[in-house]
Amino acid sequence: MKLICTQASQVLGARLAGRLGVETIDVRYSRFPDGETALVRDGTDDETVIVGAVTGADALVELLLLIDACDESANTLVLPYMAYARQDRRFRPGEPLSARAIARAVSTGVDRVIAVNLHDPSVLAHFRVPAEHVSIAPQVGAWVAGHEGNDPLVLSPDDGAARFAEEVARVGGFDHDYLDKKRISGESVEIRPKSLPAEGREVIIVDDIISTGGTLATAARMLLDQGATAVRAACVHGVFAGGALLHLAAAGVAEVVCSDTIERANSCITAADRLADALR
Ligand code: R5P
Repeated sequence: MKLICTQASQVLGARLAGRLGVETIDVRYSRFPDGETALVRDGTDDETVIVGAVTGADALVELLLLIDACDESANTLVLPYMAYARQDRRFRPGEPLSARAIARAVSTGVDRVIAVNLHDPSVLAHFRVPAEHVSIAPQVGAWVAGHEGNDPLVLSPDDGAARFAEEVARVGGFDHDYLDKKRISGESVEIRPKSLPAEGREVIIVDDIISTGGTLATAARMLLDQGATAVRAACVHGVFAGGALLHLAAAGVAEVVCSDTIERANSCITAADRLADALR
């Protein structure tokens, strides 16, 4: 087995290769005069693991080219992050089922897919090859347990992610709950933990994705008003669209970390161990 990765997944790819004790395949990149991506890979193996997060259009094209370049081997695709996965149904007539479009595209030329914390497992059905997803909630839990702080309250931003928060909290036997949003008037909402008060507690908000950070910033302000001693946040996929990290800091969030499914300066958590287990 050899491992090849896109430029978006170099850190995770190197960590994964280390965990598995396998060689990585070198890829050389250039551009055609019109700006199109050109790439040439070194030799593959009978069995190749392709690691490539789909973070946007360029990353998708690079991944598709890499899969095609590996067409002589049996390929497992590791999909650390899948953009468009949240469009997992048609919300209005005439819309694409975007998650299906991406799943179908990356299925061509691979024999198996392993994704990390898909927003909704129903997306797995859209791949045209056997697909599974792994959860790194235990690794997020290990980060919560390992950082300084006392008996944190682990919260998900909504009841949809409550199970994720429960899995995270289980690592350290922490209290967990989810944030409940109540509309007070046409203009204002109140956000507070459903059952466990935040007063006097350090709160860690955990989620699969932080994109704009909008909900999280509003929640953080309200939790601090309710007497939380500090608010931190940890997620799997750090999308951080449109200055999200700055907005979170301005809202009083003391620290935000994510995993290396999208490689960021604050990728303090790795998906490599969980993926290595799935590949062995
Ligand atoms: C939604 O169900 C997801 O779990 C995240 O809570 C959501 O995608 C985060 O989006 P944003 O950071 O833009 O509030």
